[in-house]
Amino acid sequence: MKSFEKSKTMFAESETVLAGGVASSLRASMKPVPVFAESASGSRIRDVDGNEYIDFLLAYGPSVLGHAHPELIASLHEAMQRGITYGVQHRGEIELARRLTEVLPCADKVAFSGSGTEAVMLALRLARAYTGKKKIVRFHGHYHGWSDTIFTSFPSADMKPSAGASGSAEAVMPGTGGQSELSLREIILLPWNDAAVLEQTLRERAGEIAAVITEPVMCNSGCIRPLPGYLEKMRELTAELGIVLIFDEVITGFRLGLGGAHGRFGIKPDLMTMGKALAGGIALSAVAGAGAIMELIANGRVSHLGTLNGNGAAMAAALTTLDILGRNGGEMFPKMDALAQRAAEGLREKLRKFGFRGVVNQIGPVFHLMFIERDRVDTFEDFSRRDSSLYFEFAERMLEEGVLIRTNGLWYVSIAHEERDIELMLEAADRVLQAMAADRKREG
Ligand SMILES: Cc1ncc(COP(=O)(O)O)c(C=O)c1O
Repeated sequence: MKSFEKSKTMFAESETVLAGGVASSLRASMKPVPVFAESASGSRIRDVDGNEYIDFLLAYGPSVLGHAHPELIASLHEAMQRGITYGVQHRGEIELARRLTEVLPCADKVAFSGSGTEAVMLALRLARAYTGKKKIVRFHGHYHGWSDTIFTSFPSADMKPSAGASGSAEAVMPGTGGQSELSLREIILLPWNDAAVLEQTLRERAGEIAAVITEPVMCNSGCIRPLPGYLEKMRELTAELGIVLIFDEVITGFRLGLGGAHGRFGIKPDLMTMGKALAGGIALSAVAGAGAIMELIANGRVSHLGTLNGNGAAMAAALTTLDILGRNGGEMFPKMDALAQRAAEGLREKLRKFGFRGVVNQIGPVFHLMFIERDRVDTFEDFSRRDSSLYFEFAERMLEEGVLIRTNGLWYVSIAHEERDIELMLEAADRVLQAMAADRKREG
């Protein structure tokens, strides 16, 4: 049995001074206790009790290079010796913006910010200013950060339907205390992967709708792929009806390929948001998109602000991350894909072996494992039927076995992972699922 005593003591101490004991609410859900990291390198993370884990959490996504990548550290060190942030312009901003316009098919121009939440705020603002309209279509199960005008609820199993194709006036419910009910009044919440509902809504309400925002793969709820033709239809309709299409690529960006999901699928949104993997673990996000829309920042119609925007450390980190990911024609992407595929297939096999029903949805280096009485999961409605308490138990037992995973089912693979990590993880899953099956048998 692993000891988590030091983490427990530190969590208790943390609760005395840090609201909730954690720095971001989701982290509190880890059992038996939110562990405290001591250090991390490559695919491994070590906690204060001396336990080592193979890391598939990857800091909720940013650590696409694995931890403490030597080149990333060297470039940060070098950049920071020249000053961390200036508040005036510098070459790194141009270099990174140029690089992004080269690798992202939708990017004529780029604007930097600090978090995915901020990037989404800016994208929505641009879309409203560009179209002169107010409503935003977003989808059940997608997450676009925690700002008041878009945050519904997360995890989102209790999302309420809203004024959709029917045109009913039912309001979208706030996701948190302290959020005004009015803040979501411009949101139209629709089921995702349903082209008919989308078409009906957009056609009926095109005059009010500024933007459709979507994760191009529903990573936040089940890693569900778009059904064939769905994103193409979304692109076609929004172009026809004068609605800005925003792909929120905070997860898929620099993970499904250097060109993100839109590069991989060959569909060009008007705007995209990116964050997480962009700077390999340093806070940085960006909006990129069509010149005509980005122009609103240049001509002053849209304010875009932020003290630390474009800071030297973040620019250097992103340039190095993109260098590494783009090396040798981007050979890291198929490598990560193959490892994630092996992990997903292996986990499916283990579920079958021990009599558990479940689904593993994988695309590139990201996948979602859920316990569910179904063979496939294509919609948020289906996803909501998963047994999340069983997964919680699985995650806790995997931690005990030396594998760190998110408690909601989403796994990430980095360029630092190797086949051996996947095999060790599968051996751990074998022991865990065997024990869970035996417990269930005993309980009858
Ligand atoms: C798709 C998506 N958009 C936006 C965000 C918000 O990003 P951040 O947590 O950096 O504010 C997230 C975070 O998980 C995300 O997954």
